[in-house]
Amino acid sequence: MLEKIKEATAYIKNIIVETPVAGVVLGSGLGNFGQQIKVEKEIPYGDIPHFPVSTVEGHSGKLLFGELGGKKIVAMSGRFHYYEGYHPHDVVFPIRVMKYLGIKTLFLSNAAGGTNPAFKVGDLMLIKDHISFFTPNPLIGKNEKELGTRFPDMTEPYSKALINKAKEIAAAANIDIKEGVYISVTGPTFETKAEYKLIHILGADAVGMSTVQENIVAVHMGLPVFAVSVITDLGLREDDNVITHEEVLEAAHAAEPKLTHIFKEMIAAL
Ligand code: HPA
Repeated sequence: MLEKIKEATAYIKNIIVETPVAGVVLGSGLGNFGQQIKVEKEIPYGDIPHFPVSTVEGHSGKLLFGELGGKKIVAMSGRFHYYEGYHPHDVVFPIRVMKYLGIKTLFLSNAAGGTNPAFKVGDLMLIKDHISFFTPNPLIGKNEKELGTRFPDMTEPYSKALINKAKEIAAAANIDIKEGVYISVTGPTFETKAEYKLIHILGADAVGMSTVQENIVAVHMGLPVFAVSVITDLGLREDDNVITHEEVLEAAHAAEPKLTHIFKEMIAAL
């Protein structure tokens, strides 16, 4: 696995000019964020050795290299989800490559269902902790010591310092933000009413189909993570309220400017 990471990294280093200081993963409906980046190089996933190949047509995905908030960054336009059929090792492969490229901070975003009754559609939730029990741990398998320890500590999976910085930035811009626990599920079904209720009882404020496996390998490698959920639908809701992918994308899209502002200012402050 290490060899694959190093080959992919070497391929990319040959193309890019400067080392990115931060990596950004864009969640569902949050792709316009890419337009904020002064893109210098684009590398399609399909060109990078050992990168997972997208199975969905028109969903090719690429790494964007460029400048945001005066800093060099790399952004993943398109991520790999477990529900698409990828092995967890493939889901997290790009995160490991970004670390080997030299990033010092990882920014993750996602669309999520709210299971905290105080949340509204369009809210931003800073992820302060997660529950990973419903999705396979990406560290299962032989441990590569060069990446990290066999039994990583998970007391601060999301950097408190970065969360505090985000709160300052949000307050200064009058952006209302929530904070909470994210639980990962495999999908691709949205949850049943009973499942949303269970998730709420388990202590999670939001539920989604990404982010946690990426976070775990970042923590394993000692990479500080900042993550935000855009609440795109409410799990604890009226009986006849059906959730659709379109509604999720629309809500994510509407909340995108707030998320973009926070990410941009945080990267500028790195
Ligand atoms: N559940 C799981 N994943 C999601 C949801 C949800 O309600 N909304 C957006 N992604």
